[in-house]
Amino acid sequence: MNNTIRLSNGIEMPNLIQGIPLAGPNAGMGYEEFCKIVNLSIDCGVRAFDTSSAYGPSEEAIGKMMPSLKRDELFITTKISNVQQEMGDIEKCVNRALELMRTDYIDCMLLHWPCPGYIENYKKLEKEYQKGKLRSIGIANTQERHIRRLQQDDISIMPHIMQTEIHPFRTEEGMLKASKECDIVLQACSSLMGMRPMLSQNNLLNEIAEKYGKTLSQIVIRWHIQRGIAPVFRAFKENHLRQTVDVYNFVLSDEDMNSISSLNIDYRLHPESMNCPGY
Ligand SMILES: NC(=O)c1ccc[n+]([C@@H]2O[C@H](COP(=O)([O-])OP(=O)(O)OC[C@H]3O[C@@H](n4cnc5c(N)ncnc54)[C@H](OP(=O)(O)O)[C@@H]3O)[C@@H](O)[C@H]2O)c1
Repeated sequence: MNNTIRLSNGIEMPNLIQGIPLAGPNAGMGYEEFCKIVNLSIDCGVRAFDTSSAYGPSEEAIGKMMPSLKRDELFITTKISNVQQEMGDIEKCVNRALELMRTDYIDCMLLHWPCPGYIENYKKLEKEYQKGKLRSIGIANTQERHIRRLQQDDISIMPHIMQTEIHPFRTEEGMLKASKECDIVLQACSSLMGMRPMLSQNNLLNEIAEKYGKTLSQIVIRWHIQRGIAPVFRAFKENHLRQTVDVYNFVLSDEDMNSISSLNIDYRLHPESMNCPGY
């Protein structure tokens, strides 16, 4: 299986993405630890990272590291926060992210949530893409209805990427079907469902893990990849990271893929009403 996914504009995106928040639940850390995690991830074969202007000074930390990184081998996704979107100066946000990350281009720039006014902000993002600053654009935390809404609007470019919460308890079948129809690639955030006990202690997932001689995290990550979705995971402990990315030497059967998907109950870790007021 190829380790990249081709976007509608021909760009290849690695299909495993490590989240690197410097702030947020369980993510408070210093710059040294941040560098250690980024370098270890690269050492483990990870070539894509996910951040946001809303994740503390993560973009700045990437910028500080930039001189020591092979920029052209990395795929960096970042996001325009809800507060920035409310201000509406998308050009300024893009320039700020470029400056903080000390780079000439961003591989994927997303609006963090489809906040009120997101279509207008998306159109401004299209302009920044057309100027060559962004290699791909999209919106995070979207659902099928947002794709349908965009299809009816006069946008010039369908999002190349959408990032949304997907895991075995939230499979987003409708979103996946609509995204395939529109040639949008999905990134799954909280792809391990934060390893909540509901997931980590699930009997079916543990039985499948035992059957393949893999860990539960490897089974879940592999399930995402076989669905054609790029999982965004966070694994900061070295043993977790090494396990989580070691998923290319086995294949889940169709039967096991289907039984994992049958766990769906549309469960959400990140409710819209909390994260996207006025949504
Ligand atoms: N678009 C959005 O609004 C949005 C929302 C949420 C998240 N995200 C993105 O998605 C990323 C991941 O989401 P998330 O932080 O909710 O986490 P997640 O990847 O679903 O789960 C993270 C948890 O899983 C643990 N873990 C990882 N590999 C493991 C393994 N092999 N065995 C046991 N435990 C393991 C981690 O532990 P250790 O860290 O201790 O190794 C951590 O506690 C974020 O960093 C962010 O980039 C985006």
